[in-house]
Formats: sequence, structure tokens, C-alpha cells
Amino acid sequence: MHAIQLQDIGGINALTEATVPRPEPDRDEVLVRVHAAGVNPLDWLVCRGTLPELLDDSLPWIPGWDVSGVVESVGPAVTAFEPGDAVYGMVRLPGVGGTFAEYATLSVDELAPKPEGLSHTEAAGVPMVGQTAYHALFAEAGLEAGQRVLIHAAAGGVGHMAVQFAADTDAHVVGTASGRNAAYLRDLGVDEVINYRTQQFEAATEPVDVVLDAVGGAVLERSAEVVRPGGTIVTLPEQPSDDLVETVSHEHEVAVRFFSVTTDAAPATLQRVTDHIEAGSVTPTISETYTLSEAQTALAASATGHVRGKLVLTV
Ligand SMILES: NC(=O)c1ccc[n+]([C@@H]2O[C@H](COP(=O)([O-])OP(=O)(O)OC[C@H]3O[C@@H](n4cnc5c(N)ncnc54)[C@H](OP(=O)(O)O)[C@@H]3O)[C@@H](O)[C@H]2O)c1
Repeated sequence: MHAIQLQDIGGINALTEATVPRPEPDRDEVLVRVHAAGVNPLDWLVCRGTLPELLDDSLPWIPGWDVSGVVESVGPAVTAFEPGDAVYGMVRLPGVGGTFAEYATLSVDELAPKPEGLSHTEAAGVPMVGQTAYHALFAEAGLEAGQRVLIHAAAGGVGHMAVQFAADTDAHVVGTASGRNAAYLRDLGVDEVINYRTQQFEAATEPVDVVLDAVGGAVLERSAEVVRPGGTIVTLPEQPSDDLVETVSHEHEVAVRFFSVTTDAAPATLQRVTDHIEAGSVTPTISETYTLSEAQTALAASATGHVRGKLVLTV
């Protein structure tokens, strides 16, 4: 089968197209014929050498965590799916990606039936960011109707899903983005759009109950200024230092939490995301599609940090 492979940890430029053996499903695995694979920052971060331990025994490595496709065959212990089923899902760490290919194996609890109203291209943009946004807002931060939530990078992959979940929960949604995304965010359900290039978000809005931080660094530190005592910041790019967590908790009475969707999200979360999509309250934005051969270009576009919604490879 055709696949995209990283030969050495050398960044996006070390990706090549290769012909490799088709994987075989294990006992509790499903072999999926890939129709589309979503692109995530994790893909190019790993190419650049983030999580090197993941690749120790796995070079050459096939990137890609998100997938939508059709079940080709199933392992002997699998009863939930059968050949021909349309499915979507996300490989969970320590699984090592593998969806930038014509076929990929996923364990049965990493998959759910593809939402009927979405094409494979749309569905492939959902699993990682949908589960991240859902888990962060509800499991980590306990967001409820009537609360105020500030979503950083609201126009990005995680952000655009989080905005829709929060708006559907009847929270008051504040979102940061550059000016070009202001109208897009209002259409998605953001009540207050803050242009991070021209405004200081701490001064531009009233205190919030929850911050979803998909930017990190100084944005995470500054976010403590805008959360009311007792509120929660969920940060996604990296584990914050113990010092920062301690300081924010002590000085602001605000909890700072990090979690990783690739290890921590419960299998049931994908089903909750599906329910929202099927109810029509959440729709992914796919801003660009690429062929498998164009994976390098797609990952370079993702690495600019200014994608609206999602990029997807169609296979
Ligand atoms: N912990 C986890 O489980 C987990 C899961 C998924 C993702 N992540 C991490 O979360 C982060 C976001 O992921 P993603 O998939 O949403 O990324 P993404 O789609 O690449 O985010 C792109 C968006 O970021 C916005 N942006 C860039 N700089 C900004 C700033 N300073 N303030 C506000 N918005 C800004 C851009 O808006 P403009 O174009 O308007 O600037 C763009 O729409 C990444 O670091 C990713 O690795 C973690």
C-alpha cells in the first residue's frame, strides 16, 4: 500500500511517499481502508523530534492519528464492527499514528461509527480536536450553562469545536483570534471576539469561569488574570511547570490542568462528540484538503499555526 513515511527525525522535509506492506489487524483491532486522514500539530511536532521516545523502535514511521474510512477486516475478538462499516476515530498513544496511508489498524475502542451526515473528509477532521475540546470543557473544567468561558485560538482545530460545544451548552463564549477570523467566530457562536493582535484579552473582557488554552506560554500565564477565584484553566500545548500551577493556585485561587487526549480521553468521549454532530449542534470546518502525496505541504500549512478549522488528507 502507499503510505507517507518519516525516515529519520528530520522535520517535515524528511517525509517521503513509500510502498509498504498492508498492516494486519490484531485480535481486538480493525483494519480500516482510509478514505481521509486529519492533520494535527502532533504530526509535524513528532516529525521535528517531539516525543522521540515514541519513535525509538518505529522508524520509518507513518504519521497520522485521525482517520475516517471503511472497515476492511476485523481481528477475531472484534464484534462491534464488520467489513463494510463506515467508521472514524483516533489512534491513542502509545499507538504510533499510522493513518497517512491507504490502510491503518486501530483498536476497537478507538473507533466509532462515522456520523451519517458527514463525508469521510469532514469526519476525519473531528476525532482528535473534537475529543480534546469536549474532554477539556466538560470533564476537566466542568463547564455549565450560564458560565463564561474564554477559548484561546478559537478558530483553530480544537478551538472551533470547543466554541460550538460551549455555545450549545448555553455558556457565554469569549474567543481569541486574529481579525480575519472575527466574522467566522461570530457565526460559530462566539459572543465576544477578541483580536489578540490588537487587544490584551485580560483587559478586553469580564472575568471568566473557564479558560481553554490552546496557545500556551505567555498566554497561559496571562490567563490567570482573567479567571475568577475558583475557576479553571485547561491548557493543551504542554504540561505546565509545577511552579506555575502552584503560583496560579496560590495567588489567584485558580486551578490549572493539563491533559492529553491521546492518552487520557475515555473511549465514550468519541460517542458524545458523534451525538453532538448528529444532533446538528457541532460541524467541523475543513478549510483545505490535500492528497496523500501532498502530506508535506499539508503539514507545513499546519505548522504556520494559522489554520482555520482543519486540514485533511484525502486518500
Ligand atoms: N493536550 C492535548 O490532548 C492536545 C490535543 C490537541 C491539540 N493539542 C495542542 O493544542 C494546540 C492547538 O491545537 P489545534 O489543533 O487547535 O491547532 P491549530 O488548528 O493549528 O491552531 C491554529 C489556530 O491558532 C490560532 N492562533 C495562533 N496564535 C494565536 C494566539 N496567539 N492567540 C489566539 N489564537 C492564535 C490561529 O488563529 P489566527 O489565524 O486567527 O491567528 C489558528 O486559527 C497545539 O499546541 C496542539 O499541539 C493538545
